[in-house]
Amino acid sequence: MSAQADIILGCQWGDEGKGRIVDLYAAEYDVVARFGGGDNAGHSIVVGDRELALRIVPSGVLQPHVELFIGGGAVVNPTTLLGELERLADIGVDVPSRVRLSDRAHVVLPYHAARDAAAERARGDAALGTTGRGIGPAYVDRVARSGLRFADFAAPDSVAEKMRAAGADARAIDDAISSGERLRAYIVDGVEYLQERLQAGKRVLLEGAQGSLLDVGYGTYPFVTSSHTIAGGACTGLGIGPGAIGRVSGVFKAYCTRVGAGPFPSELHDERGERLRRQGGEFGTVTGRPRRCGWFDAVAARYAVALNALDGAIITKLDVLSGFERIGIVMGYRLGGRSVNFSQADNAALQLEIDEVPGWAEPIGDCRTIAELPENARAYVERLGEILAVPIELVSVGRERSQLAR
Ligand code: GDP
Ligand code: IMO
Ligand code: MG
Repeated sequence: MSAQADIILGCQWGDEGKGRIVDLYAAEYDVVARFGGGDNAGHSIVVGDRELALRIVPSGVLQPHVELFIGGGAVVNPTTLLGELERLADIGVDVPSRVRLSDRAHVVLPYHAARDAAAERARGDAALGTTGRGIGPAYVDRVARSGLRFADFAAPDSVAEKMRAAGADARAIDDAISSGERLRAYIVDGVEYLQERLQAGKRVLLEGAQGSLLDVGYGTYPFVTSSHTIAGGACTGLGIGPGAIGRVSGVFKAYCTRVGAGPFPSELHDERGERLRRQGGEFGTVTGRPRRCGWFDAVAARYAVALNALDGAIITKLDVLSGFERIGIVMGYRLGGRSVNFSQADNAALQLEIDEVPGWAEPIGDCRTIAELPENARAYVERLGEILAVPIELVSVGRERSQLAR
């Protein structure tokens, strides 16, 4: 067996706290690689009083020894990436020497955002609530074989030709070519880059974006993103085989959130949902939109465990549940008296089986071991462990890097 890479990915509808967990785990790795998505992602990291919201640059960035790689499965807006590199330089984080971008990654251009907006308008009431970043149209171009890749910047004439064919004006073409020029030093043969590091025995961590329930094939279609966010997406997104994958760890919030439209069976439309939003600061990192909030959904969670063949789970934002007298867990879905699985999540007649467990009053942000948690919090974590049926690696009890209980 050759060298292996481990995966950390989101197992709900995104924003599970992946960035925060990757930042932590990255201490033990040499390379952190993004395998999909683009600047629709927003990954927050808090270390001391330093706070970062990353869209493209992998969340290992605050571990100074870590190399950062953006794989061929990602779609990258050059303006966002350059802006992020600048912001990181402003706060004294050295990125240029460590970041590399796959030549196979696709370029997100202004016309993609325009097409995204137009498609959303055309959908009217059935709009998906995309992040508006042009992610869907960029992946459409990739599949239609008319996309622009970072490799193309080696020949600016062909960039101009492709962009003209897509209807871009001269100014957009000049902008893209000059961004490509500024990114030149970071563009590498993405397959060779990762293979070399795996062969050399480097420890590689693969960072997922979005969440499993937003996967284009297995999420709540059509209310999904346009890439494969599940573990299999790490292989196609980086050009590595399944044998190169080591451990797969899934990140779950202790409750559920979703931003944008689409099925969300455990959503709370009352003051409890508002309380989760308030206590959890549930507003989109990218768009600032209020996130929809609801109870932990065991049906959805087990589906995500299966899709990803998870080896372990990480629970985040347990602290947000402090002060709830009772906490709900959606244990089952029923239709006409029959138990059904996650494929029925969008069925309007769906009925929920909800268990209510006792909550705890105390804040838990200072707990550093699971044993220290209030009894009901510990029981809640144990319950999630039983539901997921994989070991719980870690429980996060706050935004700051050190706020975790093992
Ligand atoms: P990602 O997209 O999965 O990386 O998640 P986001 O960064 O978009 O959203 C997660 C939000 O929750 C961020 O604001 C994090 O700082 C915050 N967060 C992460 N873990 C915890 C936690 O355990 N407790 C609390 N209260 N906040 C957390
Ligand atoms: P991170 O990595 C939460 C959602 C959008 C919308 C749908 C399609 O921070 O967890 P898109 O712009 O991708 O075409 O939008 O997917 N979405 C996310 N929701 N977290 C994300 O990323 C998301 N990326 C996309 O809200 O519902
Ligand atoms: Mg996010």
